[in-house]
Amino acid sequence: MGDYIGVIESLHGRKIVLGVSGGVAAYKAAALTRELRRLGADVHVALTEAGSRFVSALTFHALSGNRVWTSFWDGGAENGIPHIALVRGADAVLVAPASAGIIARLANGLAGDLLSALCLARDCPLFIAPAMNRQMWENPATQRNVATLRGDGAILLGPDEGGQACGETGPGRMLEPEALCEALLAFFTPKRLAGRKVVMTAGPTFEAIDPVRGITNSSSGKMGYAIAAACVRSGAEVVLVSGPTVLPAPVGVRRVEAASALRMRDEVLAALPGADVFIAVAAVADYRPAETAWHKLKKSGAPMQLELVPNPDILAEVAARPDAPFCVGFAAESQDLDTYAEGKRRAKRLPMLVGNLLVDGLCGDDNTVVIYDDEGRHPLPRAPKTFIARQIVEHLACLLPAG
Ligand code: CTP
Repeated sequence: MGDYIGVIESLHGRKIVLGVSGGVAAYKAAALTRELRRLGADVHVALTEAGSRFVSALTFHALSGNRVWTSFWDGGAENGIPHIALVRGADAVLVAPASAGIIARLANGLAGDLLSALCLARDCPLFIAPAMNRQMWENPATQRNVATLRGDGAILLGPDEGGQACGETGPGRMLEPEALCEALLAFFTPKRLAGRKVVMTAGPTFEAIDPVRGITNSSSGKMGYAIAAACVRSGAEVVLVSGPTVLPAPVGVRRVEAASALRMRDEVLAALPGADVFIAVAAVADYRPAETAWHKLKKSGAPMQLELVPNPDILAEVAARPDAPFCVGFAAESQDLDTYAEGKRRAKRLPMLVGNLLVDGLCGDDNTVVIYDDEGRHPLPRAPKTFIARQIVEHLACLLPAG
């Protein structure tokens, strides 16, 4: 195994120059700065004069932890030349929000302001997140400029459609900070799973007793959804068969909803042809009511018996197939993690299993896990589930037989 424990696929150590131009969406750039920093990026903000009318340099200074640049004539830059000093060593320039004005200047190679000039002087990728009124976005001049920028290699992120600050509705909303960060993460993630198909389960299952009641497991789905997102970033095609959760489908993932274990099993089997990997993260209910009442059961006050029958073990069934994909299991235990987790891995004949001790509960944002494989146990340090997910994906990519 390679020494992957540490920083994978985050923006740690990446120098990102964030260009903020004039537009109401500049307020989202404040949250974006924070999120980029949370992902480990070293964020340097270049604010246009119009941008500073919406959000002050002080805000970006506080959020980025770095000095904010607004003009060529700001003193104190290395060599006294801010537009060169800012982009030297940068891994990416992200202009968010990008107004129609800055898009026009960039498309035409103008260099009359600091942000336009540093974009010209850069030797790293340029990401542009447009934000403007829908009519301005649809104007042929803007579309021409965008096409020029794309032709020059710039990466356009958005815009989104929807309600606009001006009261109109249509294309031109800036993408949310999370989506912009996701795009940067995906860009910098090595495509270890390119050309691979991953089928997954996540979330709890719900085994109906009657139309309004049922048996379920405690599971937020966060771990499974984070793994699905990490697989997509690594270049995989992902089908996520999900029990009931409140989570949005990660960008690029095909989500299939399946409330009960039986339905989940059917959807997994339907998605399986061509799969290289199956990851079973779902907390599948081991039993379901022998019968589901058509109508709501009425209380009688007397004790009630519920007959339960076992559900199929989806993971065991997939792993036992002669054409089984690379199977990854999960095990949440309240004690004796090594014994139970490794026992489950062997019983289901899995090349890899992720175990966790139930000290953090099941629905939190952090987790402490141990990966089990034929080489032994690999504990990962406690970390956010999104981060753990990347490490799990990296581990399975290392173990996956060549395609
Ligand atoms: N799993 C599955 N189908 C089931 C039950 C579990 O696919 N009907 C998968 C889970 O998604 C997980 C692993 O199997 O990857 C968990 O193994 P299991 O032994 O079933 O765990 P528990 O149900 O927690 O077992 P126990 O209650 O005996 O601890």
